[in-house]
Amino acid sequence: MNQRLQVAIDGPAAAGKSTVAKQVAGQLEYIYIDTGAMYRALAYHALKTHTDLHNGERLSELLDASEITLEPVKQGRQTVLLNGEDVTKEIRSQSVTNHVSLVAQYPAIRQVMADRQREMAAGGGIIMDGRDIGSHVLPNAEVKIYLIASVNERAERRYQEQLAGGLQTSLEQLKADIRQRDKLDSEREVSPLIKAEDAVEIDTTSLSINDVILRILEVIKERV
Ligand code: DC
Repeated sequence: MNQRLQVAIDGPAAAGKSTVAKQVAGQLEYIYIDTGAMYRALAYHALKTHTDLHNGERLSELLDASEITLEPVKQGRQTVLLNGEDVTKEIRSQSVTNHVSLVAQYPAIRQVMADRQREMAAGGGIIMDGRDIGSHVLPNAEVKIYLIASVNERAERRYQEQLAGGLQTSLEQLKADIRQRDKLDSEREVSPLIKAEDAVEIDTTSLSINDVILRILEVIKERV
């Protein structure tokens, strides 16, 4: 496939976006761009520097001083650098997960992030995942996918992931966290989580990762 398209993958937390996006990117030799990691890196930076998360101006200043780099995926893993420091692991902490939606609600922050994301996507040959990619960041993306799955299924997947990583967690707590993030992401005033009109919706609740990848590759082929 020689054409270098822009592929947008949106959907709620834990719907499997990054897992499938990384693999599709690998197969097509596209660049994978995890926009959630960018918001997470800023939330991590704010928590680490004790910046008030309710002060949008201070957060904007912090973002201006933050160089967030997404390295090319290697062996299914994308390294995230914050001002040159590897924060890949730190940005997945419970504390960052619990605070990131707060950081992502400010219009000025979203604007800077969206500008940086558009710059990264400019040459095509990219797969970008997030909440507002098809609807706002890349409205002209040739391919738009909207991935969903039931709350129970998403919580179960996170539960299995955390167990495998040796973490003690509660399934009920994970369900509550996912519901809370869905609410914050969907009810946010600026560019909330929404399915773009021209996006193809895929419900992954009873699909395997491979099924979802094949379906996305099909949609991409149809658009070429
Ligand atoms: O996909 P994720 O869980 O890593 O995203 C982290 C948070 O960032 C999520 O709570 C919503 C926010 N986000 C966003 O508002 N817009 C994006 N394009 C990507 C993520």
